[in-house]
Amino acid sequence: MKYYILFVLTFFSSFVHAEAFHDLYEIDPGAMMQGNGEHQLPQWTNLKNGEAGDVVKKGYSLFMNGSQLRSTGMVNNGMSCTNCHLSGGQLGHAAPMWAAYPAYPAFRKKNNKINSFEDRIQGCFLYSMNAKNGKPPELKSKEILSLEAYSQWLTGNIPKNKSIPGRGFVKLEKPEQSPDYQRGKIIYNAQCALCHNDDGSGRQISERYVFPPLWGKDSFNWGAGMHRVNTAASFIKVNMPLGLGNSLTDQQAWDVAYFINSHERPQDPRFKGKLEQTQKQFHQHDGQYGKISPEDKHILGAKAY
Ligand code: HEC
Ligand code: HEC
Repeated sequence: MKYYILFVLTFFSSFVHAEAFHDLYEIDPGAMMQGNGEHQLPQWTNLKNGEAGDVVKKGYSLFMNGSQLRSTGMVNNGMSCTNCHLSGGQLGHAAPMWAAYPAYPAFRKKNNKINSFEDRIQGCFLYSMNAKNGKPPELKSKEILSLEAYSQWLTGNIPKNKSIPGRGFVKLEKPEQSPDYQRGKIIYNAQCALCHNDDGSGRQISERYVFPPLWGKDSFNWGAGMHRVNTAASFIKVNMPLGLGNSLTDQQAWDVAYFINSHERPQDPRFKGKLEQTQKQFHQHDGQYGKISPEDKHILGAKAY
């Protein structure tokens, strides 16, 4: 069994993360994936030399490899942008950057203001990447600006304020039956644990996650979009198990999303000491924060990391 897992790990990581593993500053032009035919992606070979091109490459490198952000103390989990924005934010319907970039500035209910694209990236730093001490990098930091430059480059000449197909995830309708923890657990053990580990903690090869954590201290925190059961179900339905997207039924995607998101993870950075208050103020949506754990009956969020 041990050798089997090792084989599978090596096999999958060799092509899934081939791009991420070799030196990101020497990018193979053929490595760029197409955005489902909906958007013509630029070619690396056409990237400008000099500073303008370098900042795009820097953004790509940070997008692919969150451990760089972790080693500089900027983020406090094991995630990379590309774990959720698949194929370097290039894949349509996996919240691609080329569809996001032209959609900003835009109003967001979550922080009740008009967000620039830089604000929106800060949001993912704060929650999905669990920014250290609840402080994402400054709006004008080289991290945010290079991630923005990379996104702008992927977008090409799509005009601003244009809504284009492929943005976000494909929204799943409510399931016929309410999501169920035990059913989700069976699917998880059969179809997800091999890569994401029995305890949801992912798998690492020398400090670096080849399969990202789904819960626990190195995962996204309780404020992240992915902790919502509906958002995770939508992502999972189309994209997971990796390489076998759309093989789960809608019900199964909901069940397994509910299972994953009924586990502890890092605390919501808006938490000020009172779980009930955080729940009331920020969790009026489809999530498990502040609810009773189907596994051991403790209140979810009370044992957050
Ligand atoms: C073959 C290995 C593999 C299997 C099996 C698999 N995943 Fe994943 N999963 C990945 C990888 C790799 C990523 C990150 C994608 C990337 O970085 O390109 C990922 C990303 C995710 C993410 C978003 C990132 C995160 O850590 O939250 C979720 C959620 C997820 N998987 C859920 C599932 C579920 C649910 C199943 C089972 C139905 C499943 N996965 C099966 C490899 C796998
Ligand atoms: C744990 C998963 C996860 C990780 C890691 C993550 N994000 Fe996100 N991100 C999301 C989700 C979920 C959304 C909301 C997508 C939706 O519902 O349309 C989102 C939205 C965004 C958007 C807005 C998309 C749009 O269409 O409006 C941007 C920009 C973004 N993320 C950038 C980043 C960057 C840059 C990083 C890395 C520093 C990152 N994200 C890391 C899950 C993640």
